[in-house]
Amino acid sequence: MKIEKVSVDGYKNLDSVDISPSPDVNLILGKNAQGKTNLIESIWLMTGCRSFRGTRDKDFIGFEREKAVIDLLYTDSVRTQEISFTAMKGTKEKKITLNGVPVPLLSRLFGNLLCVCFTPEDLFISKGSPDKRRSFIDLSASQIKRSFVWALNKYENLLAQRNSLIKDIYNGLSDRSMLEIWDTQLAQTGAYISVVRDTYIRSLGRYATKLYYELAGERERFEISYRSSIYKDLEGRTDHSGELKDIYYSRLSENINDDIRAGFTTAGIHRDDLEMTINGLPVREFGSQGQQRSAAIVLKTAQAQMLSEDTGEKPVMLFDDVLSELDPERQAFVLENSHGMQVFITACDKSAVEKDNSVNVINISGGKIV
Ligand SMILES: Nc1ncnc2c1ncn2[C@@H]1O[C@H](COP(=O)(O)OP(=O)(O)O)[C@@H](O)[C@H]1O
Ligand SMILES: [Mg+2]
Repeated sequence: MKIEKVSVDGYKNLDSVDISPSPDVNLILGKNAQGKTNLIESIWLMTGCRSFRGTRDKDFIGFEREKAVIDLLYTDSVRTQEISFTAMKGTKEKKITLNGVPVPLLSRLFGNLLCVCFTPEDLFISKGSPDKRRSFIDLSASQIKRSFVWALNKYENLLAQRNSLIKDIYNGLSDRSMLEIWDTQLAQTGAYISVVRDTYIRSLGRYATKLYYELAGERERFEISYRSSIYKDLEGRTDHSGELKDIYYSRLSENINDDIRAGFTTAGIHRDDLEMTINGLPVREFGSQGQQRSAAIVLKTAQAQMLSEDTGEKPVMLFDDVLSELDPERQAFVLENSHGMQVFITACDKSAVEKDNSVNVINISGGKIV
């Protein structure tokens, strides 16, 4: 997958940006606060995912601007596609089209343009909170299995409704028997999500273990596994609408007193985690800073490789300020493993990709290409 053209105007500080990137490595160069991340973010938004820096829709538009426009042309293995996006000041509505056909929400673009984004924050994935790791699994698995997004949304809605019912029960406004209808559906969706996550992590783990060997040598065995709060072992299990659903349902029923006391649903896929170990020891507790970084790099690289294998499309790699954070060996590893993919790197100076002359340099200053 290659981005052929990106035009951005009025998105944050970006002003009449018009680039035709190289199909290989692109280096977005500029001093601090010039708009490098904004440019990466505007590309990322066209994947249909939420902003990786948590920007809300109302902050898309430049302070002095009336609208933000992003136009992106890319080619996948089948055809060239065009995404157009316009957000206007004072209205929540956006004008989005894919090949001229209106799309109601940004999130509906998901599954078209495939990118893997890597930021300095990702370097802390093994140490950070479990929700960061769950997001990693859910996003990466969704890229391969589009219907998974639907299941995740459904679960989120069901969980919110169950939690609100639990509060009503606690306050004597509702009856326990009302829970059954939610629990049946939660069990069904939760069992399915558990299976998809577990299957995804098992496959990803095969890529990750191999990549870690390549990066760190044979003495360090890196492994990842899905830690379910409901199931002890999901190996080889796919019967999400059979026994797995029943087990999930039973756990919800057993926990009901605890849940009512806590005021929320205490067990379920929203409490699960991704465990990473090196030679059997959890990276979260025992990993050195270097090992934590290697783990992060290997996870992202594995995600990109698996995505390529499964979809037949090489994702576009977006590295925001992350390569300059890494030592030369890890930098080289990341770049070698992105070979053949289109890459965008932001940095304050050229050292991030010094050895490579074929790099296309894009200079940005004050939100403009210079
Ligand atoms: N809505 C906005 N309108 C105009 N400028 C904005 C908006 N949001 C952020 N900015 C500006 O964008 C700049 C930061 O851009 P960023 O892409 O993060 O820089 P960097 O080049 O360091 O990655 C800051 O100068 C900030 O004031
Ligand atoms: Mg930045």
